[in-house]
Amino acid sequence: MTSPIVVVGQGGREHALALGLSASAPVVVVPGSPGMRTAPTAGFGVTISAGPLSALHPSLVVIGPEQPLVDGLADALRAEGLLVVGPGADGAQLEGSKAFMKELLVEAGVPTARHGTFTDVTAALEFLHTMAPPYVVKTDGLAAGKGVLVTMDLEEATADVEAKLAGTAFGQAGSTVVIEEGLVGEECSLLVLCDGTKVVPLCAAQDFKRLGDGDAGPNTGGMGAYSPMAGIEAATTAMLLERCVTPLVEAMVRRGIDYRGVLYAGLMLTAEGPKVIEFNARMGDPETEVVGPRLATDLAQLLTEVAEGNLRSEVVLRPEAAVCVVLAAKGYPSAPERGAVLSGLGPDGQLGQPLEGVTIYHAGTTTGPDGQGFVVNGGRVLVVTATAPTLSAARAQAYAAVAQVHFEGMQFRSDIAAIAADREDPQ
Ligand code: AMP
Ligand code: GLY
Repeated sequence: MTSPIVVVGQGGREHALALGLSASAPVVVVPGSPGMRTAPTAGFGVTISAGPLSALHPSLVVIGPEQPLVDGLADALRAEGLLVVGPGADGAQLEGSKAFMKELLVEAGVPTARHGTFTDVTAALEFLHTMAPPYVVKTDGLAAGKGVLVTMDLEEATADVEAKLAGTAFGQAGSTVVIEEGLVGEECSLLVLCDGTKVVPLCAAQDFKRLGDGDAGPNTGGMGAYSPMAGIEAATTAMLLERCVTPLVEAMVRRGIDYRGVLYAGLMLTAEGPKVIEFNARMGDPETEVVGPRLATDLAQLLTEVAEGNLRSEVVLRPEAAVCVVLAAKGYPSAPERGAVLSGLGPDGQLGQPLEGVTIYHAGTTTGPDGQGFVVNGGRVLVVTATAPTLSAARAQAYAAVAQVHFEGMQFRSDIAAIAADREDPQ
């Protein structure tokens, strides 16, 4: 039997990776969730397992989320002789500590927002008062995309610095804060493969971080995304890599960090040129749910080359556009409620009435108490992706699919990719 590829994680990103990889090998998601299982159709099937991981004898392990990377899972697996996609704990510090990331960006000469790093509240507030709005206050440690405040209100920023440093918000993750200059421009997530020394871009996508339409409400893990981004063509991607990514990889090499995984560059395209907002040490979620379906190159081959330190394949993208809409639980992001029953899905977890080009990725579901159907089991519940020849067609199809699905308290944005679709197709 062919050895499986193991994907570690349980969200929509891992579901998208699993489906992409199942074209080439059987895939086991650890721990995954029941909605991810597929029977072998075109290619191989996807199963789920509670582990242990090494008992599965994987040919390749792909680590999806940041926490296990920061905790050193990739190091432990490599020590067992496994081929792994994902940086060791040293490289994952890029995401695990914003202070470390900022230090490395400055060392590498990569453009980023002016910033200060603080553990002391008096010094932090003194620095904050030297900044102009918008004010940006971040926890140093991991906070699932929710540790960032961007506000025009100095009083709100002051209260946030105090709450983070007092340990009342985000506990240990907030014991160091980064305060930085607010950047203005269009945001872009560039996903890049890195084999330790060489980088190859996958593609750019735009994520919608705020909970509500028109970018209202709190920051979330991401409420939707689309790809491609108009204006980020080959020439721009090459410039972004040269200015923002390659110098960072060179700085890591100088520090002895052998980074084999995905570099997620969160960029702001400002009037002064691109600036790095952050680096993540993994694929984006929900960016993967739009980038994955656009990949024409064999994902398993690409990721194997990353893990082996020998990236040589070219990334080829399908010409289609992809749009995804996140369906989130009642109370997300501050206090998501579990247990609501989903309607509109078939027993396979996909749309009950299939629509062309639509895939449902399970981000936070489990099976119902009677073993039937699906119930809400996380903050982000489903990611509904549609691919089509144009962004506007993909967007219309994604929202047609969203209209089929329901659960009590369901939240979603109705403006994902709206501006980009209008630009593409001015009426
Ligand atoms: P991060 O977790 O660092 O990606 O921040 C989450 C979101 O906050 C980003 O995607 C931006 O939308 C916003 N953000 C973070 N830093 C800045 C900044 N310096 N200026 C403007 N917006 C920012
Ligand atoms: N979509 C934002 C992230 O993955 O961090």
